[in-house]
Amino acid sequence: MINLKNILITGANRGIGFELVKESIAKGYSVVGTFRNKQNSVELLKIKSDKVKFLEMDVVDETSISKVSSQIAQPLDYLICNAGINNGYGNFFHEDHSHEKMLEVLNVNVLGCILTIKHLSKNLNRYAKIILISSIMGTQEHKGSNATIYRASKAAVNNVMVSISEEFKSKDITVASFHPGWVRTAMGGPNATLSAKDSAVALIKSFECLKLENTGKFLNYDGTLMNF
Ligand SMILES: NC(=O)c1ccc[n+]([C@@H]2O[C@H](COP(=O)([O-])OP(=O)(O)OC[C@H]3O[C@@H](n4cnc5c(N)ncnc54)[C@H](OP(=O)(O)O)[C@@H]3O)[C@@H](O)[C@H]2O)c1
Repeated sequence: MINLKNILITGANRGIGFELVKESIAKGYSVVGTFRNKQNSVELLKIKSDKVKFLEMDVVDETSISKVSSQIAQPLDYLICNAGINNGYGNFFHEDHSHEKMLEVLNVNVLGCILTIKHLSKNLNRYAKIILISSIMGTQEHKGSNATIYRASKAAVNNVMVSISEEFKSKDITVASFHPGWVRTAMGGPNATLSAKDSAVALIKSFECLKLENTGKFLNYDGTLMNF
């Protein structure tokens, strides 16, 4: 088995991204964690290790992504597009769904993944894995009408994931999206079923098990395939 150990995680300062950083360090990875706001990243920046590097990057700011690309010394084995936002769980007519808020969700969740992958693809190793953190809320089987644009954004993430997987097939790079579970973070809320640590531990294990034949697939955090 090839030993893949260099990982970049976006939205690393809190929630699932922060736990992915900690689990990657615990497993001996070299980690690049990106954050968009220093003030929100105090806990992250307290982590001191010669195997970690924290860089400022907004996933919808191409200049900042290019800058990160130029600051990465070693080729990446894993590129984890984790950063995302939710504009609330309001229904279709709720003020959560103003034009401005909907554009922001699509911009960060969908274009953020595309721009991150576009600019960091030059930093990828052969056999690298590109992971997009999506959501079960993006599948076509809805259990409610709320969070209309968040659901649409994650459906788009899964669709984009398939296109990008086709683009990278000839380069032996695997591209897949994951549902991280319902996770107790600012986004998932306190009633969610999974801690961020448990989600991150399972996700990293599943990323390691991904093979080229999984490219273009949507998986649960435990590595089982999901329909989308
Ligand atoms: N929690 C769940 O139950 C759940 C379920 C399904 C899918 N997900 C997905 O899992 C991922 C992580 O979610 P989470 O629960 O950890 O959310 P979270 O606690 O709200 O954290 C979101 C992260 O994304 C970052 N971010 C937002 N916009 C960004 C931008 N423009 N550029 C760079 N970073 C940006 C945030 O940075 P700031 O601190 O600067 O805001 C933060 O680090 C998201 O893609 C989410 O949609 C979560």
